[in-house]
Amino acid sequence: MKAIRFHRYGDSDVLTHEEADRPAAGPGQVVVKVAGTSFNPVDAAIRAGYLREVFPVTFPGIPGIDVSGTVAEIGADVTGWAEGDPVVAVLPMTTAGATAEYVAVQADLLVPAPRSVDLADAAALPAVGLTAYQALFDHAALTAGHTVLVNGAGGAVGGYAVQLATAHGATVTATAAPRSATRIRGYGATDVIDYTRTPLPEAAAGRRFDVVLNLVPTTPDETAALTDLVADEGALVSTTGPVPESPGRGVRAMRMFLRADATQLAALATRVDAGTLAIHVAARRPLTDLPAVHDEAVTGRLPGKTILFPA
Ligand SMILES: NC(=O)c1ccc[n+]([C@@H]2O[C@H](COP(=O)([O-])OP(=O)(O)OC[C@H]3O[C@@H](n4cnc5c(N)ncnc54)[C@H](OP(=O)(O)O)[C@@H]3O)[C@@H](O)[C@H]2O)c1
Repeated sequence: MKAIRFHRYGDSDVLTHEEADRPAAGPGQVVVKVAGTSFNPVDAAIRAGYLREVFPVTFPGIPGIDVSGTVAEIGADVTGWAEGDPVVAVLPMTTAGATAEYVAVQADLLVPAPRSVDLADAAALPAVGLTAYQALFDHAALTAGHTVLVNGAGGAVGGYAVQLATAHGATVTATAAPRSATRIRGYGATDVIDYTRTPLPEAAAGRRFDVVLNLVPTTPDETAALTDLVADEGALVSTTGPVPESPGRGVRAMRMFLRADATQLAALATRVDAGTLAIHVAARRPLTDLPAVHDEAVTGRLPGKTILFPA
């Protein structure tokens, strides 16, 4: 099969479109014929070697933690799946990923793909949808009636966070550039701050929120300033870096890490099919574009969630 692999850490030019052995389904595994994967910022960090302490690569590495596709082969001890079933999953950061024609996946990570969207586009849901869900409910303990500030709502995690929080009965304020503002209002945010004109925390000075989600890479000082926007006993959850240890006023501050959870992912897919959670795809490109996609992401030129499909 063809795959994008890298044989050492480095710049995007280490990503090579080349021939690789098609994986076989080991015990407890299913081989998925890839319809789509999506770019996540962590992919570029893993490729560059910045995360080698936490997510070491076994070379040659194959990037891509999101997968959508169809069941192609079923390993021993696997029940409940049939060849051709459409599936989605989040893959572990440290095993071969989905920038390939086929990928072997632990069967307990797979869930039925949403049927109401193109199968390749469904790869825009798993990692970022789960991150948004876990930030709001597992970490921030969001309840109906809470006020929420989503910093970075224009991004993939942010779009799901706004939708999930609104659906739960929260009132959402979001930061987003003009290019994303209409979409984010459509997701239910009642107040959209244009961070390109007035950055946080100035733009929200004097206001406090029960929950602040930080989805933007921030300096330690910027993160500390975000705690001032959290109400007493409220929560700051960041996906991007360390948070202050003891912000005071009963504020809980935490850095979170995505956890693969098939039950939660299945529930998100169900919401998609119910029409209550929209999947936003900004671009669809062949796998051979992956080095360019990494470069565009690192330099802030990627237009948004980008789906990659086997060329
Ligand atoms: N810890 C974890 O487990 C975990 C899991 C998933 C993601 N993450 C991290 O969470 C972050 C968000 O992920 P993502 O997938 O949503 O990224 P993304 O889709 O690449 O989001 C980038 C978007 O954020 C917005 N943005 C950029 N700078 C901003 C600023 N200063 N203020 C407000 N908005 C700004 C921009 O949208 P507009 O300009 O259109 O508004 C940009 O398009 C990334 O750093 C990612 O690595 C961590």
